[in-house]
Amino acid sequence: MRNLHPGPIGVFDSGYGGLTILKEIKERLPEYDYLYLGDNARAPYGERSFDVVYDFTLQAVRLLFERGCNLVILACNTASAKALRTIQQNDLPAINPDKRVLGVIIPTVEAIGNFSKSDHVGVLATPGTVKSHSYLIESAKLFPNIVVTEKACPMWVPIVENGEAENPGADYFVNKYLSEILSSDPNIDTLLLGCTHYPILINKIRQFIPKDVKIVTQGKIVSESLKDYLLRHPEMEEVCSKSGNTEFLTSENPEKFNTLASLFLNEQIHASRVNL
Ligand code: DGL
Repeated sequence: MRNLHPGPIGVFDSGYGGLTILKEIKERLPEYDYLYLGDNARAPYGERSFDVVYDFTLQAVRLLFERGCNLVILACNTASAKALRTIQQNDLPAINPDKRVLGVIIPTVEAIGNFSKSDHVGVLATPGTVKSHSYLIESAKLFPNIVVTEKACPMWVPIVENGEAENPGADYFVNKYLSEILSSDPNIDTLLLGCTHYPILINKIRQFIPKDVKIVTQGKIVSESLKDYLLRHPEMEEVCSKSGNTEFLTSENPEKFNTLASLFLNEQIHASRVNL
């Protein structure tokens, strides 16, 4: 593609959540290089206004572009809900019309129809994602038969960002939102984790829901959708470098990032700090 040199695929999240997406992308597409950016210093994004999430996300995208990425995945539902469209339509043409930014909500919604037998799906997400009603609006277009109930879980991202996901103190808030959504629609047979941080709580989530309720996470869905995207867009695929390396950037203290990220990814991480 004109004007582009091969570079890593950028993966952005407000904090640790995008690692749940990166992990599965790397499993399916190990040959590519990746540059992960977590804005841990300013996480959570979940309760921030539209304008602030847009500003923060644009800063992150610009930084990943400056570091050589040609394709950036917003591995964050809140950023996908509040910033993706404006960046794609208004900012990309001015920054570099050949580069691309993709989100996680549309590929997830496209897969929603595959899981529920009762056609009642619960979506657990941040307050920002729920306020945008992106899941409700997009799934009504593709699957008008499916009843979607959205539930904001404002305490879940702070629990993960503070490294409390496995600790007993998390139980109250994990149970609280699950029992609220399941009692608001008892026909729900599928719970979609519409925030990339939430799979880090999956062991606890499983403890508080009936066995016949399915949990759907986004990692597999998003990584398969990226694989398909690269097949359909050879001009982008050829500007994604392929040495199998992954680097990590965080806007907070890299030592804390290294400890938690190494735990989530099951490998030793050496992140560098960046100013956003
Ligand atoms: N991982 C982000 C998401 O998927 C979390 C947002 C936050 O920082 O609250 O929405």
